[in-house]
Amino acid sequence: MKVTLNIWRQSKQSTKQDFKQDGKMVRYELDDVASDMSFLEMLDVLNEGLIKKGEEPVAFDHDCREGICGSCGVMIDGVAHGPEKGTTTCQLHMRSFQDGAEIYVEPWRAAAFPVVRDLVVNRSAFDRVVQAGAYISVNTGAPKDANAIPVPKADADRAFDAATCIGCGACVASCKNASAMLFVGAKVSHFAHLPQGQVERETRARNLVEQMDAEGFGNCTNQYECEAVCPKEIPVRVIADMNREFVRAKAVEE
Ligand code: SF4
Ligand code: FES
Repeated sequence: MKVTLNIWRQSKQSTKQDFKQDGKMVRYELDDVASDMSFLEMLDVLNEGLIKKGEEPVAFDHDCREGICGSCGVMIDGVAHGPEKGTTTCQLHMRSFQDGAEIYVEPWRAAAFPVVRDLVVNRSAFDRVVQAGAYISVNTGAPKDANAIPVPKADADRAFDAATCIGCGACVASCKNASAMLFVGAKVSHFAHLPQGQVERETRARNLVEQMDAEGFGNCTNQYECEAVCPKEIPVRVIADMNREFVRAKAVEE
């Protein structure tokens, strides 16, 4: 199949001014794309051609290519991770596009995720949010039996649903407020539903929300765009969980 790509090219880190001054869309034609290629394999083919011509390849983030690491997200035709629901960019295949399609590819756009180069953004703001408390402290020792601490099935299911977040940032990129509440809500909800998460429950909720605000992410205004594009289909109810946990933490504090 043939495709025409319009890809954001940017040689240096964002300047935080008008992003249009930092780079531009560049048009490329590909004639030999197999419909079974993944979107990233199609970009590999483009890059091989660019390298052969002595041009700079397109920089894009990727690692697992199995939908589990969260590094590969880009905006495809204005939709985070492209047209298939519940699918990361690396798991998207070219058969999802028509022969002759014109496709627009851009990096995430959010003040807290500055563009490093081309389609690569710096998502270390998410790392700092996780460092603020998205973990449990445990005393090391002999491993315990997996069923030593019973967890009610309903709680295990809620925790597991939230734990599937891969930290890709699509929720932020798709939100008009660049809100990270689906991501942070997933972390808070995950631990709040497990017995192991109870010890640091209040400090976790407070610290994660404070770090999220400090990183410059916006507020949630119930647009539901985050839920629509999340490749792991994390539901917006985790944001309600986060808000409840934050209010609870404040009440316990006072
Ligand atoms: S909540 Fe979904 S969209 Fe947001 S970072 Fe996690 S997996 Fe990605
Ligand atoms: S490359 Fe790991 S989720 Fe896409």
